[in-house]
Amino acid sequence: MPRFTVNVPATTANLGPGFDCLGLALDWWNTITVEPARKFSARLRGDSEGLPADETNMVVEHIRILYKHLGAPMPPLRVTMTNRIPIGKGFGSSAAALVGGLAAGNALAGTPLSAQELLELANELEGHPDNVSAAIFGGFTISAFDGGRVVCATVEPAANWRAVAYIPDHALATKKARKVLPDRITRADAVFNIGRAALLAYAFTTQRASFLKIGTEDRLHQPYRVPLVKGMPEMLDAACAAGANGAALSGAGPSLIAFATSTANALQIQKAFAETARKLKLVGETRILKLSARGTFVARS
Ligand code: HSE
Repeated sequence: MPRFTVNVPATTANLGPGFDCLGLALDWWNTITVEPARKFSARLRGDSEGLPADETNMVVEHIRILYKHLGAPMPPLRVTMTNRIPIGKGFGSSAAALVGGLAAGNALAGTPLSAQELLELANELEGHPDNVSAAIFGGFTISAFDGGRVVCATVEPAANWRAVAYIPDHALATKKARKVLPDRITRADAVFNIGRAALLAYAFTTQRASFLKIGTEDRLHQPYRVPLVKGMPEMLDAACAAGANGAALSGAGPSLIAFATSTANALQIQKAFAETARKLKLVGETRILKLSARGTFVARS
């Protein structure tokens, strides 16, 4: 009987100006092991508080969706999920569950779908490709809709770059964080973001960290989300003052992410995040993460 383990990375989306388009895979992984069984069972490990261990689990739902897409019923399975990506904190936990479920179903079915086909399906289900592209392909991803298609370019990130995360103790629903955004923005703000998103893509593509600072500035979503993310401006300023090459809200928040080009620099930023959080009476934790050139991968065991 085949047994597969799917590894799916945490991702940070937007990176400031790239709302719904830019994503980055982090070296922080959920795993899902699936094997055919006589009857369905699901087990949860890791940071899985509040997650259902039954057929309503999002990973299991997406294994079923994959089979439905193939026109076949989901066979009875034993599913073991180890959850490390915090839920609702801005690191693509729902994209990881969605991509992980689809990739697990695809592996069980004999890999009928290519990574691009998985992306199209994941994007239809998620509605925006930023996290799902990075979760599937890894690296820094630039995605755009072209009719019903998603065009995604991937860039391998510099090996020495680090992401320093500040992760509040509470979650923020993406739906709520999208409700505060205006439907229209001024041309001046659009121009502001176009230049910065392009510079950010340039920074990752050429590994020039000096362009990250301006490249992570945003006027499209972050200013509107300040009331939902206590201390955001102070924390981002503190990270930059401590030497971060750039800093932004991670996805729809509430976590923050700052970039460093060395471990020593990352440690300084981590300290600045912790000290500023203490001053502002914020409760949360910090974490230094490597960037992942690798996206979702499946191992047969
Ligand atoms: N780009 C989304 C947002 C979050 O900022 O609302 C990540 O999917």
